[in-house]
Amino acid sequence: MQATISAVSHYLPDRVMTNAELEQIVDTSDEWIQSRTGILERRVVAEGEATSHMGIKSVEQILQKSSTSAQEIDVIIVGTITPDMFFPSTAALVQDAIGATNAWAFDLNAACSGFIFSLGIGASLIESGKHKKVLVIGGDTMTSVLDYEDRDTCVLFGDGAGAVLLEPTNDENGIVDSVMYTDGSGGNRLYMPAGGSRQPATLETVEQRLHYLKQDGREVYKSAVRGMADAAQALLERNNFSAKDVTLFIPHQANKRIIDASAERLGLSKEQVFINIDRVANTTAGTIPISLSEAVNEGRLLEGDLVVLAAFGAGFTWGATLVRWGKCV
Ligand code: ACO
Repeated sequence: MQATISAVSHYLPDRVMTNAELEQIVDTSDEWIQSRTGILERRVVAEGEATSHMGIKSVEQILQKSSTSAQEIDVIIVGTITPDMFFPSTAALVQDAIGATNAWAFDLNAACSGFIFSLGIGASLIESGKHKKVLVIGGDTMTSVLDYEDRDTCVLFGDGAGAVLLEPTNDENGIVDSVMYTDGSGGNRLYMPAGGSRQPATLETVEQRLHYLKQDGREVYKSAVRGMADAAQALLERNNFSAKDVTLFIPHQANKRIIDASAERLGLSKEQVFINIDRVANTTAGTIPISLSEAVNEGRLLEGDLVVLAAFGAGFTWGATLVRWGKCV
C-alpha cells in the first residue's frame, strides 16, 4: 500500500506587492530584481492574517472538493518556519478552526524543504496502515520576518500556502519514493538570530534587527542548485528513471536562475519545468504545494504522469519526492 495525493489546493493573499512598490521602500530596481531572480511581484497577507489563515483557506477547499468531512481527518502536518506563534502549533490552530476533532496535529520546521519533509512523514503514516486521511500543509508568512531595510533579502519572498490530502491506494499511482537530507553546518548561512531560547527577545535584539531573516545569498544559491539537482537525480536513478521519463519537475521557487540551473543539470527541457516565481516569489514551505495546485488547475498534471518535486532551504535541508500522479481533485 502506498499514499496518493487525492486532493490539492492553495491560497494566496489578495494583496499584490510589485517590484515598483519595493523601489519606493529600498534601494532596488525592477530591472535588478527581474534579472537576478525572475520575480515580478509577490503576495502579502492582510493585517491580522497569519500562516494558519492561509492553511485553513487551502484545507477548506480540499475538504469541499473531495467531499471529505473534517472529522474524517486523522493527522494534520504543517510545514512552516513562520508559525502564528511559538506555541501552540499552527497545525493545532488549523485543527481547531476546521473542526477536525479526530485528528492529531503538529508543525514541522524544515524551512523551504518543509513541504517535502512533511509529505514524506505523511506518506509514511499512510503506509504504516494506521492512518487513512492525512492533510499536509506547506505555507509561510515570510513578510513577517523580512527586514524592509535589507535589499539583499526583502525582495525575494512572499506569502502563501498550499495543501494536499493523502490517502491510501493499491494502484500503481501515488508517492513512489523520496529522499531527504540535512547538513546543519550550513545553519549560519540562512537563519533568524533572535527570538528563540538562545537569544530571547529584548529591546536590544529588536534595535539590532535580529528578528529578521539573514542570509549569505551566494552560498545558498550554489548549495541550492547542487542540492535540488543531486536529490532529484538520486531519486530518479534509484527508481530506474531518467530525465526523459519526467512529465513535470516542480522545484522550490527561490530564484529563476536556481531553477534553470537545476533543470539544466538534470537535462530537463523548459516544457518539463513548472515556474510561478514571477507572480508568487519565494513562499518558503508554500512554493511546492502552491505550484502543484496551479499545475493541476492548468491541466498540466494527468493520471499516470511522472512528477518530481525538489526543494532546498535553511538548515541546510533538501530533498526530492517522486510521484506517479493519480486521481486528484
Ligand atoms: N537591488 C539592487 N541591488 C542589489 C539588491 C537589490 N535588491 N540586492 C543586492 N544587490 C546588490 C548587492 O549589494 C551587490 O552589490 P555590490 O556588487 O556593489 O556589492 C550586487 O547587487 C550583486 O550581488 P550578488 O550577490 O552578486 O548578486 P547575485 O547575482 O548573487 O544575486 C541573490 C543575489 C538574488 C540573493 C542570489 O544570490 C540568490 O538568489 N541566492 C539564493 C538566495 C535565496 O533564494 N534564498 C532563499 C531562501 S533559500 C532557498 O529558498 C533556496
